[in-house]
Amino acid sequence: MCGILEPKFMCGIFGYSGSKNASEVILEGLKRLEYRGYDSWGIAVAANQINLEKKIGAIGDLNQLNGLPAAKAGIGHTRWATHGAVSEVNAHPHFSSDESFVLAQNGIVENYQKLKSELDKKGYKFLSETDTEVIVRLIESKSQRVRDLKEAVREAFLELEGRNTIIVLTKDGQIIAARNGSPLVAGLNDGEVFLSSDTLSFAPHVSEALVVENGQMVYWNGKLTLLDIKSDKVLPLYFQKINFQNSKVDKEGYDHFMIKEIAESPYVINQIISEACRSAVNGDLSLYEDFVEELKKAKDVYTIGSGTAGIAASQIAFYLRVFAKIKAESVIGADIYEYFDLLGKDDLMIAPSQSGETADVLEVLEIAKKKGVKIASYVNMPGSTMARMSDFAFAAHAGPEICVMSTKVFTSQIAWGYYISKIAQGKAEEGKENLRKLADEIEDYLNTGSNHEAIKKLAKELARSKDIFLLGKYQNFNITKEGMVKIIEGSYIHAHGIPAGDLKHYAITLMEKGVPVIVVVSEDKTKDDVLNVVNQVKARGATVVGISPAPYSGFDYHISVSDTGETSAIMNIIPLQLLAYYMAVELGHNVDKPRNIAKSVTVK
Ligand code: BG6
Repeated sequence: MCGILEPKFMCGIFGYSGSKNASEVILEGLKRLEYRGYDSWGIAVAANQINLEKKIGAIGDLNQLNGLPAAKAGIGHTRWATHGAVSEVNAHPHFSSDESFVLAQNGIVENYQKLKSELDKKGYKFLSETDTEVIVRLIESKSQRVRDLKEAVREAFLELEGRNTIIVLTKDGQIIAARNGSPLVAGLNDGEVFLSSDTLSFAPHVSEALVVENGQMVYWNGKLTLLDIKSDKVLPLYFQKINFQNSKVDKEGYDHFMIKEIAESPYVINQIISEACRSAVNGDLSLYEDFVEELKKAKDVYTIGSGTAGIAASQIAFYLRVFAKIKAESVIGADIYEYFDLLGKDDLMIAPSQSGETADVLEVLEIAKKKGVKIASYVNMPGSTMARMSDFAFAAHAGPEICVMSTKVFTSQIAWGYYISKIAQGKAEEGKENLRKLADEIEDYLNTGSNHEAIKKLAKELARSKDIFLLGKYQNFNITKEGMVKIIEGSYIHAHGIPAGDLKHYAITLMEKGVPVIVVVSEDKTKDDVLNVVNQVKARGATVVGISPAPYSGFDYHISVSDTGETSAIMNIIPLQLLAYYMAVELGHNVDKPRNIAKSVTVK
């Protein structure tokens, strides 16, 4: 585990060997992995002996590292804990007792207590309370009896229970890494090797990546070898093209990644139209038509995701029901047990996912796949596990999304859902045209300063609320739920998205003077129902914020948006994302790295 026994945590691991200065390459890699965790970090380089530096806090820059020596090989780790001490002693990498190697880990050693007491009996000492150090001592104990460290790592890894990925650096610059759970990818570039938790972190250096599967390990001693951990058999190296349109990871003049990524909404929508047929695995053209045929043939269609992606999954199912007349059902990623007996080979499951590595969803997809369910995914990380296990792997090509709060990728996911539904409806061109118009409308909206001013003013008003309610119906219900998620994530304020029609059955008891209620209204068949609910909450003194094309009586604030017809819901999420952003800024929160959440949770 990335430190003291945290039930949930996130980490990033990175390794390099080659002609560049290892600590600089690793630092850059860790910065690109920072979205995975930013409580503490460490870098170890091999220059005759191993030099190790660890720091608490977000990833800084090299001068914080008391000058690691120039070296050709090293490993790094960035840690993030939902709770449990953030301390240097718990930060990775961890030294072996004789300092002949260091190890960093991403995962949970579920049998760590048992292993630790066996090692205690053999006289091994521990500096930290982490399970990570148990792996280090276990490798040491194995290396007493086997020919080389690679074999000791292999044998020790086989004794670990739980999802773990580890990386080891020896003092002569060899690197060994093993995977069972959290992702591990390798990149090669004439004599250099990069190892990491994701391909984005070494995208500027390589264009192809080897994905290490669960139960595999890699060994670098100037040459890269891929092994099956159980059999120790050497496996063929299979590199996949990783096509990053733009792998730049910087704010480009924006104050935060979040506002930059919201500003990229038109771009990501146009990507869907232009990149429509690309596969997320190898960039090949895989036509939507094949997928849509499968979609229409399927007995049951499910969509699945966690967090914001779970809400996107729900909106995708909505569009399939409305436009394609397919009775798609969305399931919440972490909790689908009652469906397992209902899944069969004629079913299809669609997973939108930014990282393509969310463990809750992967676990379900693995079970569904075993039952013969066809898997489709829509991911923003080329080469990710979800993409590689899919029968239909679609790439969002939305560009890196660094802010932990998903914005442009959510917009991309629901726009994609709208697009596949229009293709299934037999109106692909209409769908494309509507998305093109939507992208232009969002562009205009975001380029109009008065829109930002109106929302900033509202953000100041709402930033000190205790509870914020959001009401929507039909196409806008998921939008109010995503608005709820954004406000909670960015402001740490309790927000609650409620089906507009349901308010009178319970939440109306909470309506009283000054309670803020955000209502999302489109010019659609449910408009009057929703405006009726506005009257109900107004009658009890609530403060009503209306997000709609036209102002209606009862609105205390009106956030005006264009009426974009069938894609109105996608338009409506933009002001809510902006509101969450300006509220987080107003409250002085760490906008791109809110407390207690991670960008991608690759453990259960
Ligand atoms: C959460 C993130 O941890 O995981 C959300 O904070 C995200 O933004 C969710 O939607 C699912 O992640 P992914 O990578 O599957 O979209």
